[in-house]
Amino acid sequence: MATNLMMDLRLMAAGAVLAIVAAGGPTSASAQALTYTEAQAAAGANAFRSGCSGCHGAQAQGAEAPALFGAQFDGNWRGVPAASLYDFISQLMPADKPGSLTKDAYVSIMAHLFKLNGIPAGTAPLPIPPPPDMMIPK
Ligand code: HEC
Repeated sequence: MATNLMMDLRLMAAGAVLAIVAAGGPTSASAQALTYTEAQAAAGANAFRSGCSGCHGAQAQGAEAPALFGAQFDGNWRGVPAASLYDFISQLMPADKPGSLTKDAYVSIMAHLFKLNGIPAGTAPLPIPPPPDMMIPK
């Protein structure tokens, strides 16, 4: 009995923390900072090489498919929710086999693209899938 009560209290405490985070925390009222790790980017580089580079180019510089780098990335993806990029690639890419990768691979590929485009890695992984209020920085 006593242990059950302890569990309940711990769950309540966890809920309170989540409520504070959901309310915005100290950083911002509406958006969370984008996060990903070097490990995700490294895994994503491999997944990109096997699943995406054939059409988008080895450095995502563009080939038969548009660049996912530089001005093209800046214009289409900066300032939009990471979840929009996730939805796009996980539903439509690879164009010849849409949706064929794991969620983990799509998120790792996003980390690789962020790194390639100069967005710095951090200590917290990019969540799978990214939450709706996490924005790709301008
Ligand atoms: C068979 C060729 C092919 C493969 C493989 C492929 N793509 Fe694409 N991709 C395309 C084409 C073609 C477009 C342009 C589609 C359009 O604009 O409607 C595109 C568009 C995109 C875009 C939007 C680009 C922009 O900013 O306009 C993203 C992001 C993207 N692909 C990501 C990926 C990722 C990630 C992978 C690997 C999981 C991948 N693609 C694999 C052909 C491919």
